[in-house]
Amino acid sequence: MICSTGVPLDAPILDVGGGASTLVDHLLDKGYRDVSVLDIAASAFTQAKARLGANATQVTWIESDVTQFEPSRSYAVWHDRAVFHFLTKAADRDRYLEVMRKSLRPQGHFLLSTFGPEGPTQCSGLPVQRYSVEMLNELLEPDFKLRACEIEEHRTPTGGRQEFLYSWWERLETS
Ligand SMILES: C[S@@+](CC[C@H](N)C(=O)[O-])C[C@H]1O[C@@H](n2cnc3c(N)ncnc32)[C@H](O)[C@@H]1O
Repeated sequence: MICSTGVPLDAPILDVGGGASTLVDHLLDKGYRDVSVLDIAASAFTQAKARLGANATQVTWIESDVTQFEPSRSYAVWHDRAVFHFLTKAADRDRYLEVMRKSLRPQGHFLLSTFGPEGPTQCSGLPVQRYSVEMLNELLEPDFKLRACEIEEHRTPTGGRQEFLYSWWERLETS
């Protein structure tokens, strides 16, 4: 989906809750040159940095709770897989969306992957909020329009199955 947005290779991309995910490796491999990874747990970066070796210096690592993040620049892509659904309190969700809106450029892309309508109700012992695309639309209208979405059945390392909803929202020019 990040490639589908068509943003240029020098566009600023933020992976929220990227942790030790290998998404950053793939983005660098594809030639994206302005990638930032934000996570509340600095320990998650240790693994990613060790894996990336010298390439780790090409990435901006931001240790922050996303709901407290004060962006110093604006991003063309905000990517989140498996963070937003952990925010089960309305106040935290509202704050997240406020920070995302503050961080994203007009015509920027919000790529969100959450547990889908048939996804689990808990993950790692924590409660989660499941989402349908209609529920997300209510949170994101009127300044975002849905560009694409798909359901994916994710296989966990222990062999479990979790329904994910991947969605791509584009910020409208006027916002
Ligand atoms: C389930 S993992 C997902 C990791 C990665 N995005 C992926 O899809 O493989 C959730 C990540 O979000 C981070 N996280 C949880 N709450 C957060 C918050 N409030 N602000 C920033 N990061 C958070 C965790 O430390 C963890 O790295």
